[in-house]
Amino acid sequence: MNLTDFSRRRRRLMQTMGSGSIAILPTAQERIRNRDVEYSYRPDSDFYYLTGFPEPEAVAVLVPHRKQGEYILFCRERDPEMETWHGRRAGLDGAREAFGADDAFPIADIDEILPGLMEGKERVYYTMGVNPEFDGQVMGWLNTLRRKVRSGAQTPGEFVALDHVLHDMRLIKSRAELAAMRTAAEISAQAHVRAMSSCQPGMSELQIEAELLHEFMRHGSHYPAYSSIVAGGANACILHYRENSDLLNDGDLLLIDAGCEFDYYASDITRTFPVNGRFSAEQRALYELVLEANYAAIEQVHPNNHWNDPHEAAVKVITRGLVKLGLLEGRVPKLIKDNAYRQFFMHRTGHWLGMDVHDVGDYKIGDQWRQLEPGMTLTIEPGIYIAPGTKAVARKWWGIGIRIEDDVAVTRDGHEVMTHGVPKEPAEIEALMA
Ligand code: GLY
Ligand code: MN
Ligand code: MN
Repeated sequence: MNLTDFSRRRRRLMQTMGSGSIAILPTAQERIRNRDVEYSYRPDSDFYYLTGFPEPEAVAVLVPHRKQGEYILFCRERDPEMETWHGRRAGLDGAREAFGADDAFPIADIDEILPGLMEGKERVYYTMGVNPEFDGQVMGWLNTLRRKVRSGAQTPGEFVALDHVLHDMRLIKSRAELAAMRTAAEISAQAHVRAMSSCQPGMSELQIEAELLHEFMRHGSHYPAYSSIVAGGANACILHYRENSDLLNDGDLLLIDAGCEFDYYASDITRTFPVNGRFSAEQRALYELVLEANYAAIEQVHPNNHWNDPHEAAVKVITRGLVKLGLLEGRVPKLIKDNAYRQFFMHRTGHWLGMDVHDVGDYKIGDQWRQLEPGMTLTIEPGIYIAPGTKAVARKWWGIGIRIEDDVAVTRDGHEVMTHGVPKEPAEIEALMA
């Protein structure tokens, strides 16, 4: 993304806001991991989407038609000593010159300046409830203005949820965003290929995680988009398994759900493959079923289809297949109506994907599933999980957990699978691992 991308987004938002309004948008706070050690800092996605500004302790303010400049950035001032210890800062000049702010002020002065910017505006665009501390600050500015009404100050009459407007924008990806997402998907695909090629019985899940991270980072991704799941055998039946500390057994499957973040965009891939490189009969039967569901769901990603169409396609395939394998009994339509598949497939078939792995955007408009449009990006990730000890299920199926997840963009005439770089056909996987 470059300066023009960010400025185009601010302009679009300000067009929607109209005059008489102000938007206030703080970035994420730094967080402590233990004692005086912080987690790696990641700006808030909404904030970054509009500013491209990577530092903590910053607040963006947009005031359409403000004569002295519409885009105001509050940020840290330069400070040679702090910068020696903790790293470079853009400072106020940098905020203007490198990040395109019309005006920049020290974050320490925000309480003095912000009430003045709010004064006389009818509407305040602000996302309430995400950062309670900042909510309090915003109320404080409002009260500062209220105390001045007798000297003629006018307080805003309306608070509007900024996230609604912004998330509708973020849902449709631009060409530049799609390019970043494609790169993220390609890097992650290579990481999964690396994991498949290096996997051997007796290795640990953690060693495989190291292979993934190595591949992410050497291609320029600083962080995974979420905590990687490397789940051998029955661990795959724990949907958010994160210990990644067991040894990998000959004869087990390995489920890996991992994706890198590249230029602030996420990828999200799951592949499941045999630790020893050869599927057993039961593993293959369930794997081929999940794969068929994955293909059937992807086929439904098409403009004007609804959000739920891929899920319904996956549910149909999986229910039919489970009956065929003797894992469910009854008539398929009735089983679907009763949600019988949920014993083995307990999550949905996907989610929006973007700057956040579970990205923003409404799934329904009113009580209708949303229609798919070009530029939307989503995951397709059906799965089947049979935990050890599952009642009324033959022992031979126990401990098999399978998910196959791809990242898909809606195009003008259908879809693009951005994660095609990692195989999912059993024969291709076995060939790669041989
Ligand atoms: N990795 C999280 C998910 O697949 O939704
Ligand atoms: Mn995933
Ligand atoms: Mn996912």
